[in-house]
Amino acid sequence: MNTLRTLRPLASRLQPYTLPRTVRQFSATSSRSYEYLLVSEPKPGVGQVTLNRPKAYNALCTPLIDELNQALDAFNTSDSISAIILTGSEKAFAAGADIKEMAPLTFSEAYKTSFIESWSRLTTSVKKPIIAAVSGHALGGGCELAMMADILYCTERANFGQPEVKLGTVPGAGGSQRLTRAVGKARAMELILTGNNFSGVDAANWGLAAKAFPTYEALMEGALKTAETIAGYSRVAVMAAKEVVNKSQDLSLRDGVEYERRVFHSLFGSQDQKVGMKAFAEKKKPEWTHE
Ligand code: CAA
Repeated sequence: MNTLRTLRPLASRLQPYTLPRTVRQFSATSSRSYEYLLVSEPKPGVGQVTLNRPKAYNALCTPLIDELNQALDAFNTSDSISAIILTGSEKAFAAGADIKEMAPLTFSEAYKTSFIESWSRLTTSVKKPIIAAVSGHALGGGCELAMMADILYCTERANFGQPEVKLGTVPGAGGSQRLTRAVGKARAMELILTGNNFSGVDAANWGLAAKAFPTYEALMEGALKTAETIAGYSRVAVMAAKEVVNKSQDLSLRDGVEYERRVFHSLFGSQDQKVGMKAFAEKKKPEWTHE
């Protein structure tokens, strides 16, 4: 991280850009400023990271990914945040890895520096749910980043694709694996071999996106509403729910069901299981302790 760049005043570093409507307030968690991100807490319990490199359609250069990991880590460890929205602009979620940064790389440089490996931190170290809100281009690494999220929402006109074959390479941040699991081998193979784009409507019809919204505003409102719903529950239960669903992607059905049961049993040791079930029996609203 370039310390001088971090210390420059925020105003001098922000490029002309319209803030998404949901970015309303800042708190201690989000007070740090970034060169390529906007970070906010649009509602209690909800953190939002907005990719903000408008001149390059949010192309995912290494410093941007470093900042993204830092911002997500901060929300992950925050005592006040339960759900995270990851978004870009109306025009672009992200147009992929930074092609200009990658162009001169040699094999040994990429291999020795584990190029792109740090992108996966999002899937391993962030235990709170991430909702990707995708509008505009989500190409290559942009599509891959969106697919790393726990819930993918998009606009109907969002432009997804894995166009790496057109650049003489293949997806490098999980695209061939996650797209194939989400839409099946036949469609994924066709998309990755042709580099053809697909729309937000396709993404929702094929099960890659949970929902496609008619407008950008509806997308951001929908993402915020879902994040608020999640933030209204016990953080312990929410994190456990994310963990067990994600295990289904790695384990056989039998192992997955056993894993789920272990986690289910372990939640009898949480305060919030008692709070939630007592409140149901007493017809009251649960007051979560997040313990
Ligand atoms: N990397 C670096 N710069 C990018 C970029 C990228 N992925 N995508 C766009 N830009 C830059 C352009 O170079 C251009 O910069 P200049 O103004 O300095 O020339 C600026 O963003 C605007 O782009 P365009 O002029 O091309 O805008 P457009 O509206 O005509 O097209 C686009 C938009 C369809 C997104 C087009 O820019 C495009 O096809 N981008 C590349 C998409 C792509 O191939 N992504 C995959 C990258 S490889 C990858 O991600 C590997 C992996 O798996 C991790």
